[in-house]
Amino acid sequence: MNPYVTIARLLLQSERVLFITGAGVSADSGLPTYRGLGGLYEEEITDEGFPIEEALSGEMMTQRPDITWKYLLQIERNCRGAAPNLAHQVIAELERVVPEVLVFTQNVDGLHVAAGSHRVIEVHGNLHYLQCTHCRFQTRVESYVGLGDPPLCPKCFSPIRPSVVLFGEALPHSAVSALEDAFATDFDLVFSIGTSSLFPYIVEPVLWARAAGTPTVEINPDDTRISSIVDFPIRAGAAEAMGRIWHALLAEQ
Ligand code: OAD
Ligand code: ZN
Repeated sequence: MNPYVTIARLLLQSERVLFITGAGVSADSGLPTYRGLGGLYEEEITDEGFPIEEALSGEMMTQRPDITWKYLLQIERNCRGAAPNLAHQVIAELERVVPEVLVFTQNVDGLHVAAGSHRVIEVHGNLHYLQCTHCRFQTRVESYVGLGDPPLCPKCFSPIRPSVVLFGEALPHSAVSALEDAFATDFDLVFSIGTSSLFPYIVEPVLWARAAGTPTVEINPDDTRISSIVDFPIRAGAAEAMGRIWHALLAEQ
């Protein structure tokens, strides 16, 4: 049977569905991915002679916030004006069909929330929230236009930074424990969309699902380390695949 129809039927029977997402889900909104062709990290050495991972590290933010901000501004500029695509929209719309939809995303672009998803764990944070590196000042900004270089805290004049996980920094404990808590009850279906599945906390929920006998779906135009272990490896872009699943679901209802 056409896998889109099978997945649509599984969705219609599901009470709880998890979507794990990465940069690829926003590729169809025009955002570059981090790795792969044209990815942000393709040119591995920055103008300053550091690997990009070092430029975007917590340590660099402490020592040379100007360097980290230069690359943060690039990332934010790429996101500016981007709108959710059909994949984000279908995931949000599924809340009308499935009683519980949880999104666990590595993306800092905020597009799942913008599309209307209500239960979103942004495990790497969100670019639009800024915090002081020294005091408790926090703020939300629509864009980075007009921020200083590097931006300084209006209260204590220390550098401010986005509330995102930089390289070498620990994940927010609350995000991972929220996911672990969610797994205390089995999911009925687990999707992994648009991620190179580099990190253990992105691969493990797929392994937990498999161990529990929960069907798993991967949507990615390329092969990844989880492609061979999921039940439905869908080799397509996120917007196309989620669009086809949505059409199949409407036809089945
Ligand atoms: P990557 O850039 O590592 O991987 C993007 C994945 O999306 C690749 O597997 C592509 O094949 C796939 N892809 C490309 N176009 C797609 C499309 N139209 N539809 C679906 N998939 C598509 O991004 P992530 O796995 O999200 O962390 O990267 C994980 C983390 O690495 C990021 O959150 C970021 C980075 O370091 C931090 O900034 C802390
Ligand atoms: Zn401050």
